[in-house]
Formats: sequence, C-alpha cells, structure tokens
Amino acid sequence: MPPVLTSTFVKGGEIGYSRDGNPTWSALEETIGALEGGRALVFSSGMGAASAVLGAVALGSVVAAPLDAYTGVRFLLTDLEKKGRVRFAPIDVTDPGGVLDAIGSNDLLWLESPTNPMLRIADIELLATGAHERGARVVVDNTFATPLLQNPLELGADVVVHSITKYLAGHSDVLLGAIVTRDDDLFDEYYAARVLGGAIPGPMETFLALRGIRTLGVRLERQMANAVILAERLDADPRVTKVRYPGLTDDPGHDLASRQMRGFGAIVSFELPSVEASDALCAAVRLIVHTTSLGGVETSLERRGTWEGEETTPGSLIRMSVGCENVNDLWSDLSSALGPPSRA
Ligand SMILES: Cc1ncc(COP(=O)(O)O)c(C=O)c1O
Repeated sequence: MPPVLTSTFVKGGEIGYSRDGNPTWSALEETIGALEGGRALVFSSGMGAASAVLGAVALGSVVAAPLDAYTGVRFLLTDLEKKGRVRFAPIDVTDPGGVLDAIGSNDLLWLESPTNPMLRIADIELLATGAHERGARVVVDNTFATPLLQNPLELGADVVVHSITKYLAGHSDVLLGAIVTRDDDLFDEYYAARVLGGAIPGPMETFLALRGIRTLGVRLERQMANAVILAERLDADPRVTKVRYPGLTDDPGHDLASRQMRGFGAIVSFELPSVEASDALCAAVRLIVHTTSLGGVETSLERRGTWEGEETTPGSLIRMSVGCENVNDLWSDLSSALGPPSRA
C-alpha cells in the first residue's frame, strides 16, 4: 500500500473527505485489527487514541489507572478530574482486590501490563472478569507487549490502546496511536471522536508504520534475546542495586507474565545506588542513545525521574529499551558507562 497523499476525494466514492478516512490508514487498521483480533482505528499519536477513549467516558465516572501508568495518561486523567469530568483513582495493578474495590458500575479500568516504567504485571483476565461483574469497562494499553506477545481482547478487555510510535512502527521516526475493539458502538464513538476531534494520522506515517510492522516479529525476537542477556548481566553486577524485568525468574511478575504473555518484552528497568550514578551512566553511554521513548531498533535509555510526574518512580531508575544491536557491543557500552564501583 503506497502513501495516498490527498486532502480530497472525487465525489461519489467511498470516502467523503480526508478527515474521514484514507486508504493507507485503512491498510494499517486492517493489519493492527487482525493482529489484536478486533476493529482498529489509527490516531495521530498514542495520546490521541487515549484522549478519544477517555473522552467517551460518562461524566462523573471513576477511571482507575496504574499509579505508574505512562505519565501522559496520568496527566490527562488529572486534567479531566480538575475539570470535573471524571474521578481518577490510582491503583497498584498487582493488587487485584484493591483494583476492583476502586471501580463500580459505568466506571473504567485502564490497565498497562507491563507498566511503564516499573514493569509490573496485571492479571488481565482476572481483572477484566471482576470489572465486568461490577459493570465497568476495561481498557489495556498494550504498547509494551505488542500484539505479538499479548492479546488483551482475548483475555476479556473491551478496548486495546497502542502507541504505534514505539514497537509497531519500530524505527523512532513516526508518532501514531491506535484503538482496537470488538464493540461496534464503541468503535462508532471513537470514530466520531477522530473525525470531529481531528486527531487523524498522516498518510506518510501510516505508510511507515506498515513498513515497520513487516519486521515486528524479527525485531522483537532479537530485542528480547538481547534484553534477557542484558538483564541477567545487570542483575549479576554489584554496581547495580535492582533490576526489573519480568523475564528474570525472581521478578515478582515472572510467573504471571509466563502464563499471560508469549515473551517478556524488551524493556529493562534498573536502579543504581544513587541518582548521581544514574545520571553519570546516562551521560557516559556511547553506543546506546540517551533519549526518551522506546521500541526502536536502537537501544536507548533514560532516568525516568528527570520527567515531571515521575515522583512515584525510584529516583535512580533507568528505563532501557533494548534494540537489535550486537549484545556484546551493548554490554561493553553499558559496563564501561557504569564506571568503577567507587562511583556508586
Ligand atoms: C505505554 C505508553 N502509552 C502511551 C504513550 C503515548 O504515546 P505517544 O507518544 O505515541 O502519544 C506512551 C508514550 O511514551 C507510552 O509509553
């Protein structure tokens, strides 16, 4: 599918105007819909997709979302709460009782699993069943897992959200988001939100995302193989105080992730003895890119505490998105950037 670059269509065809649809978006929607097992709508960014979902929540509803959900989503919820639209209930996704106590009829449960950046694992099937018993809807942000490792709709979620920007597109060159659902009424509501809100994707971006998805499987395979090795080496290194990666057998989310996911993903979070040690590592890496975002073919990292809104994240925590490079090159870069033990 080429990028169909047009702002208008000849009258009498399927698409009335370019804010309503575009053949390149449709091709990407068919692909993501098939991967997740639902009908997909593509938006101009992950936050555009999240805004459409949260904008459709009934006035006064509770939206329960992880206390370590992506900061943009938490900021949006805080803003909607200030305007009196919703009530935001922060939850710990590893405490199913607490999660279900937070929601009731017509409320919304927003999950991430693994969460960003603490990599906590939520039991999606258990929480979706409990939420539905209470009359609430369930949304899962599946950005970290990708549809190759986890399909939340199969586990009972009503809606899946993606930041395509990350793994699906995979080359750190576009911003895009998606919503996927099997519920036709919700689909129509999100479609109307996109047409009227105007958070439409661009044809070039959707073309690039389609090209990226062609290699999602091989990229992820290599990224996960690298991630396991780096997580194990970091875990064994006395200069590192804690490693969070669901693929490590002693990680609190390991058993659940083994049952729920088809792989553990390629994000590794780790802590050093001080914020200064983490900042020094971020400044010292030479092959690994010191930047935000994740899911690209190049390995990148950042100290999450440098961002406003990350106060609940341990100060020294570094979130590393593992790429496709040679793993020994990556380890050699990380190990020299960690510096002598005395720096800790
Ligand atoms: C888990 C998660 N969801 C949603 C988003 C927002 O996506 P976007 O940057 O495409 O708007 C991000 C961005 O970092 C994210 O990490």
